[in-house]
Amino acid sequence: MRVAILASGSGSNAAALMNHFSNTEGIDVVLVGSNRSSAGVLEKANQAGVASLHFSREELGSGELLKKLETLKVDWVLLAGFLLKIPKEFCRAFENKILNIHPSLLPKFGGEGMYGMHVHRAVFEAEEKESGMTIHYVNERYDEGAIVFQGRIDVSELKSAEEIASEVLKLEHEYYPRVAREIILDSERNIK
Ligand code: GRF
Repeated sequence: MRVAILASGSGSNAAALMNHFSNTEGIDVVLVGSNRSSAGVLEKANQAGVASLHFSREELGSGELLKKLETLKVDWVLLAGFLLKIPKEFCRAFENKILNIHPSLLPKFGGEGMYGMHVHRAVFEAEEKESGMTIHYVNERYDEGAIVFQGRIDVSELKSAEEIASEVLKLEHEYYPRVAREIILDSERNIK
């Protein structure tokens, strides 16, 4: 299966995915795309020998990026710290073939403006006992797609939002590659 990863930031999750899939029979990461030309994720793609692409918000909105992915015969799109909303047409073209990772236990601390440290600060200020990460399908309502996996940690003893962020990121790196692999390979088995 051919996979594209979209990210807007440093790309540590993208790197974990590329690393894991480089040893996975049946999954090839064919593109890493970012809406930010300075994003660390593009450099990580180059280091991993994966084609990288900078695209604009307009190219996402106009369907230009979608055309590029279809030309590349991409089967699955994995979002890994991607901050733009996926257009409806894009969601329809890749229906049930887009996954996202969110750094909280959705539906808590999800939705508009809830990304990166905003999430962990809100969890810390709410004095939550636990936090974690959520892997979910992406539909046009973004963080509301069907949840496929949640990893939980006890954060009651952690002393800052930064500590929560660091512990949640470890969970993300551990589980996103494995869960995405199972879902992608299962989808291929189901086709046969
Ligand atoms: C992660 O916390 C992920 O949950 C969220 O954005 C962050 C991406 O971090 N969607 P990185 O760019 O993969 O290091």
